[in-house]
Amino acid sequence: MKDIRFGVIGGGLMGKEFASAAARWLHLEFKDARPVIAGICDVNPDARSWFTDNIPSCTLSTGDYQEMLDSDQIDAIYCAVPHNLHQQIYCDIIRSGKHLMGEKPFGIDQAANAAIMSCIEEHPDVLVRSSSEFPFFPGALAISRAIEEDAFGQIVGVQAGFHHASDLDPDKVINWKRMVAVNGAYGCMGDLGLHVMHIPLRFGWKPTRIAAQLTNIMTTRPDGKGNTVPCETWDNGAIHTMVEGFGQPFPLTMETKRIAPGEMNTWFIKVEGTKKSMAYSTKHPKTLQVMDYEPGAAQAWQHVDLGYNSAYPTITGGIFEFGFSDSFLQMWCAFLDELVNGKKAMYQPFHCATPAETKSSHDIMTAAIKNAI
Ligand SMILES: NC(=O)c1ccc[n+]([C@@H]2O[C@H](COP(=O)([O-])OP(=O)(O)OC[C@H]3O[C@@H](n4cnc5c(N)ncnc54)[C@H](O)[C@@H]3O)[C@@H](O)[C@H]2O)c1
Repeated sequence: MKDIRFGVIGGGLMGKEFASAAARWLHLEFKDARPVIAGICDVNPDARSWFTDNIPSCTLSTGDYQEMLDSDQIDAIYCAVPHNLHQQIYCDIIRSGKHLMGEKPFGIDQAANAAIMSCIEEHPDVLVRSSSEFPFFPGALAISRAIEEDAFGQIVGVQAGFHHASDLDPDKVINWKRMVAVNGAYGCMGDLGLHVMHIPLRFGWKPTRIAAQLTNIMTTRPDGKGNTVPCETWDNGAIHTMVEGFGQPFPLTMETKRIAPGEMNTWFIKVEGTKKSMAYSTKHPKTLQVMDYEPGAAQAWQHVDLGYNSAYPTITGGIFEFGFSDSFLQMWCAFLDELVNGKKAMYQPFHCATPAETKSSHDIMTAAIKNAI
């Protein structure tokens, strides 16, 4: 078991989620490597003390990420900071020679993403991947395997999406994810887009003829200090595209919604084909829907309970349910597997989202803004 010493830059929602995944590493049967949280960098001292209070190995605590990049006690970085900081901090990490798991969208806009891509090209020995955990849900993996096996016949259409509802509350105080200067002009797409595009991009379904419907439903929000301030980001986006090069062109629709009444972190994908159709949603996390079709036969969907059918085996019994933190742990296992064994010798084939996939997501989101109707 090789220890990979991680520094975390950004100890907020996602930084803490990684700390929890690292602490639960014994859950996995994967024995080649494990992450050891050796340092935390956050400008907020309370975020830092959560790490140093809870994680004995976390001995480096700093508000200046350069100090972490200069340390020879750190091998790799997980960076989970607001989008306006991605370009500068990701590029500095890559130049320091430390491996990087960054958060999406990998740059606040296309220009920032291009700058990160050039740094990566100059440092080919550094492993750089983007966090995107939903394809590691067992239902999503089953659909990926079926795509790989070309099981669908002629694809009729693909719908993928990510729906949230907390912004339906007009009294919800604005945070950085609703500010164009910090989150970016993509709005909900920058926040949720890569999650939705990850599987289509992995299988080469590069969209063309991109059009989008973008809506800003809540144009103001309370600022938490008694004022009402503008809320300029897109709340909801529906991106309509066509995919060519796989028999007949087919429509690929991708929805990212911050205001989908009643939905709490619902990620889904549905692939319809002439021989097979499959659908999976985190709303019903253990149920995979499958319809196999023979000409003239009945069209009947099956609902299959999946159990804990994970990419990497764990100590959890196969009958138990799988959840968000499990998908995050599995994604991290894929990162460490690729880091120590290389892409070709990974235990299972689904690797983490690549920088090239983030570039494609920026191309789609930029076109969506340009072609919004
Ligand atoms: N993979 C996922 O499911 C998922 C979910 C939510 C967010 N994200 C992504 O993760 C990233 C962070 O989002 P979050 O929800 O964790 O945000 P957050 O606001 O909870 O945490 C961000 C942290 O960064 C710190 N920070 C700000 N400036 C800093 C600096 N200069 N140096 C060091 N630390 C600094 C903040 O103090 C804060 O603690 C974003 O890119 C977001 O899109 C991913």
